[in-house]
Amino acid sequence: MEEPLSDLYRARDYPAMSHPVADPAVNFVAARLVGLEAPFPGDARILEIGCASGHHLLPLAERWPAARLTGIDFSGRAIRRARGLAEEAGLSNVDFHECALDAFEAHDGPYDFIIAHGFFSWVPDEVKARLLSFCHEHLSSNGLAVISFNVEAGWCARRPLIEKSRAIQQFGGVDEMAALGLLKSVTKDPADLAIIDDMLAKGPGILPFDDFAPVNDAWPLDRFVMAAGNCGLRWLGESVASNNRPQVWSAQDEAEAARLFNDRPLLELHQWMDERSQRTFRAAMFCREDAPMQARISTEVALDFELLATGAPPHPMAERIYETIKEHGRASVPARHVVNALARFGEKEIAREIFLGIAAGWLSARCEPLRASRQLPESPKLSALQSACVRRKLPVVDALHRPCAFPESDYAVLSLMDGCLDLGGLKARAAVLSPHLDFDRWIGHLHALHLLSRLP
Ligand SMILES: C[S@@+](CC[C@H](N)C(=O)[O-])C[C@H]1O[C@@H](n2cnc3c(N)ncnc32)[C@H](O)[C@@H]1O
Repeated sequence: MEEPLSDLYRARDYPAMSHPVADPAVNFVAARLVGLEAPFPGDARILEIGCASGHHLLPLAERWPAARLTGIDFSGRAIRRARGLAEEAGLSNVDFHECALDAFEAHDGPYDFIIAHGFFSWVPDEVKARLLSFCHEHLSSNGLAVISFNVEAGWCARRPLIEKSRAIQQFGGVDEMAALGLLKSVTKDPADLAIIDDMLAKGPGILPFDDFAPVNDAWPLDRFVMAAGNCGLRWLGESVASNNRPQVWSAQDEAEAARLFNDRPLLELHQWMDERSQRTFRAAMFCREDAPMQARISTEVALDFELLATGAPPHPMAERIYETIKEHGRASVPARHVVNALARFGEKEIAREIFLGIAAGWLSARCEPLRASRQLPESPKLSALQSACVRRKLPVVDALHRPCAFPESDYAVLSLMDGCLDLGGLKARAAVLSPHLDFDRWIGHLHALHLLSRLP
């Protein structure tokens, strides 16, 4: 099976993407909340397996100059693109190797973070097994591995639709998008239609590597956790704390989970949630079995983080915390500031609310301040890496590690953001280069993404 796979990656460019779920700044938080003293990523050794053209690793290298980053991928095309970007952005703390995982000699390990995003489900069984044993052999004593995979519970509903589309492709000699379009026109079932729409939304750049890839195995969580356990890895839950709960999850679901799973192992609860929410994807986090874990988890660990208010606070106390963060002048706020500002409620109470808020997702937390300013700069300046991406019309990664793609004409305006033109000058040039662009709204949107206000 390795051959059709390597042929695909050698022949076609995998789309450039970064993945917020594998951002060590947030993985650090998820690990600490479950009792692992995870390493600080700012000066860590970070390895990505199947790094493609480096779009995930390069912004991390730019963010953390004292970190040492390595990416491997067996696609020479992808590695050449990654190296080109690194050179143009002046990043000397990241190396890319054209290499298959089973041939990789990890001379610069052990690693504090090992990332394998979009890899496990798409490689043959022997490579899956090697990935897990590699993580055990090459993680530092308290290091973290983040491995994403497709989850059987929700993914299995896709298989018959993919098979039907493949049959249409073979019969009609059409590509995946056209086959899905035809399938959609004869499908009545709303659940199937929703899946087809989801696949169509991924587009022709992604589908051949994802749903229609030569290998695409979805596993139930318990099989994955057991396979990792057999290789000496301990499962720590999801890589983003709030993703331990399904995205759509009602108070009723929560109450039922508490009733059924109060005294049962966490893994059983997660399996049940996967089935109930028809989950399709997980980004699981592991450490070595022998990693030192806190015997008792204290909610006060939440006071070490930087916070952003990201969701709807569910009750009055949460609202107070939320407002305290919003009123502060910085893009992220130290949890200790919230404790000081709301001193009348007591440190323990605030720590507990923050802990629960991070788990529920109305707060998001990071290991360090977000390097972004609240103010829109007078003369916006993209980073060296962002500018290199703009020159290639690739997605630009924001301060929260999200990839932001733009229409062709917007790139012409973005390419002027080198700190020399002020907002008025940019607006005048944008009116010529991209006449349909509502500049004020657009610039506000970019600012909200923390794309223009990055601090060094
Ligand atoms: C689906 S892509 C995911 C890329 C990226 N990590 C992401 O999530 O956007 C899988 C990547 O793994 C690489 N790959 C697959 N099998 C590999 C192997 N055995 N050794 C090294 N790289 C491999 C492919 O070339 C490809 O770039």
